Amino acid sequence: MTLLTDLDDVGRDPRRGGWSRHLGDDAESTLREWFTEQAGRRGLQVETDANLNLWAWWGDPEGPDAVATGSHLDSVPGGGAYDGPLGVASALAAVDALRSRGVVPGRPLAVVVFAEEEGGRFGVPCLGSRLLTGSLDPDRARGLRDPDGVTLAEALTSRGLRPEHLGPEPRRIARLGRFVELHVEQGRNLAPRGEPLAVGSTIVAHGRWRLSFTGRADHAGTTRRADRRDPMVPAAATVLAARATMEAHGDDARATVGRLHPVPGGTNVVASRVDLWLDARGPLPQALVDDVTAAARSAADAEGCTVEVRAESVSDEVTLDPGLADTLATITGAGRLATAAGHDAGVLAAHVPAGMLHVRNPSGVSHAPDEHAEDADVAAGVRALADVLEELCR
Ligand code: GLV
Ligand code: MN
Ligand code: MN
Repeated sequence: MTLLTDLDDVGRDPRRGGWSRHLGDDAESTLREWFTEQAGRRGLQVETDANLNLWAWWGDPEGPDAVATGSHLDSVPGGGAYDGPLGVASALAAVDALRSRGVVPGRPLAVVVFAEEEGGRFGVPCLGSRLLTGSLDPDRARGLRDPDGVTLAEALTSRGLRPEHLGPEPRRIARLGRFVELHVEQGRNLAPRGEPLAVGSTIVAHGRWRLSFTGRADHAGTTRRADRRDPMVPAAATVLAARATMEAHGDDARATVGRLHPVPGGTNVVASRVDLWLDARGPLPQALVDDVTAAARSAADAEGCTVEVRAESVSDEVTLDPGLADTLATITGAGRLATAAGHDAGVLAAHVPAGMLHVRNPSGVSHAPDEHAEDADVAAGVRALADVLEELCR
């Protein structure tokens, strides 16, 4: 809790509420410095990989069959205090617990901070882990733009970082034997069960699609209805179609429009273009997106507009490593939990046995300032993580 309290003032967002911490901004730089300092205090050797992920090593960074644990420090815009930082702070606290138990890991142990997990600035979530594992093309990554039009390459260069080095690091991945991410629960399942912790089982399929509607800019007062080609109208129809489609696809389907950007954005101007982002999750997110897209096209046609649809990131359903999940359950005594939130553990799972521990969130709220975990549950999470690391590093 002391570690989390250290971060309280970093990236507070007075306009949105909560915290906004994004790759390459001042808050994120402060968090990197904080992590480096905390790792140094613990005698861990810190390095930044080619993809801006931070690794703090106890033992030989070049050694085989390493165990890694950690999460991310960036947030969604106006996010909560726990999504990401809890996993990093708990990993550092677990190192302290192992030290106080007199444990000497029998293999390298790393605390890792993945870059831009939320995709809050450049749009693609799990940016650092996707680049590391080769599931995101580095040329595409360099060209990603933030809401102000700044490319990732430009943002990194202006921070003295080297975008030309982005790309897969198979040797680093090959040295990893296991990865465990501790995370605040997202959704409210553990409170009704009366359980402080759960072992991650699956991560539902999810993705982000950008729909760009183009019409014609004009005067809000003088343009007759018959002459309007207003892209806001099919965009609004698409928001409603997303809700209707989610309901039609069953209880596990999710469709959300949380971001919408009209150009030029004047109160008295019919927009020329509207971009909106559809977040779709569930057993068959593509089927859901196809239905929303069909509704978007017909609404665009009716208004004399066009619509272009692009997938910005797509993640299939992930089953976390069953053997590792059994080990985590045996050590912690916790039950299982499937999640509809994305995680770096899900990206790593295709390459390294990966597991997760979820810590009860009594409000169930996440990606918002009300996200919460009780101190006692946080402590239980740290103890469980330390137990797991002790066993995995034997
Ligand atoms: C990240 O937490 C996501 O699920 O979008
Ligand atoms: Mn998140
Ligand atoms: Mn997270």
